[in-house]
Amino acid sequence: MKEKVLVIGAMGQVGTDLVNKLASIYGTSNVIASDIKSPQKSNTFFETMDVLDKNAIKDVFTRHKPTMVYHLAAMLSATAEKYPKKAWELNMQGQFNIFDACLDHQVDRLFWPSSIAVFGPNTPKILTPQNAYCDPTTIYGISKLAGEQYCNYYYKRYNLDVRSIRYPGLISWKAQAGGGTTDYAVEVFSEIIKTKSYSCFLKPDTMLPMMYMDDAIRATIEILEAPSVKIKERTSYNIAGFSFTPKQLFDEIALHEPAAEFDYQTDERQQIADSWPKSIDDKVARNDWSWHHQFSLSKMVSNMFENLTKP
Ligand SMILES: NC(=O)c1ccc[n+]([C@@H]2O[C@H](COP(=O)([O-])OP(=O)(O)OC[C@H]3O[C@@H](n4cnc5c(N)ncnc54)[C@H](O)[C@@H]3O)[C@@H](O)[C@H]2O)c1
Repeated sequence: MKEKVLVIGAMGQVGTDLVNKLASIYGTSNVIASDIKSPQKSNTFFETMDVLDKNAIKDVFTRHKPTMVYHLAAMLSATAEKYPKKAWELNMQGQFNIFDACLDHQVDRLFWPSSIAVFGPNTPKILTPQNAYCDPTTIYGISKLAGEQYCNYYYKRYNLDVRSIRYPGLISWKAQAGGGTTDYAVEVFSEIIKTKSYSCFLKPDTMLPMMYMDDAIRATIEILEAPSVKIKERTSYNIAGFSFTPKQLFDEIALHEPAAEFDYQTDERQQIADSWPKSIDDKVARNDWSWHHQFSLSKMVSNMFENLTKP
């Protein structure tokens, strides 16, 4: 069957890379990117759509008849703490609207991302297991935990084939980071290349689970392409890349830019980071749908410099 793929929230950090990759797999004319913002230009069809506007959603689904949907639009952790009510509305009502549209329009498969933000201060911090205790302290984490249960509910009650991953902090070079607690690991590269200095908003020893975007995009596409029977976890899967502290990342960056200078000015994001795991156990995803990461810290840093300094 010929796939028609709709990516919602396509202009963000994940969507920018995902749309390119999907276009190379399914063909440019079979991928529809959409976002509340309009792009200057787009390689694929583009629809301006607000996930809180049910009429606009119905119109896009009716005209394009997607077979696969990636619903990425959300407000991320740090921004959500500034606007908790707006974050709750966008993350939850947006999810309800898109899930209902997928049911109404008989979409085959739906991807919805969760986050390591579902974990909280009483979750085991080292190699956090798939079914760990979750007590998120941020509105973002609370919305993602509720969203995971909503995925499971829609699968069990309506047979909606929705699949999900708990992304760690994502590092990429094509698009800016979107207001999360791990944004430092993205911003630092462009700042060091531009000004040779970077002031980090987390303490030097704050260890967090991270992943290079290439791995995250591969996981996102692989989980939706896996046979349905292999997807046994219908809330969301832990996946892991590597874990590092700001100091470890900056030491690696200094190997590429010896003149780089770093300092640390912590802000409210430190408290969020302190509530999250340091490393993730992803053996369930490895067993169920053969997930494996490819990028190490040093390979990721080399790749970032290579891409960001390309003439
Ligand atoms: N980037 C990360 O490190 C990370 C980590 C864990 C989970 N996630 C999850 O992955 C998904 C994508 O994250 P991202 O980093 O690309 O986020 P982002 O903030 O970069 O992008 C989100 C996109 O959604 C769009 N959007 C906002 N409100 C909208 C609305 N009402 N209607 C339609 N579109 C709207 C924004 O314009 C933006 O382009 C999110 O669900 C996020 O929670 C991301």
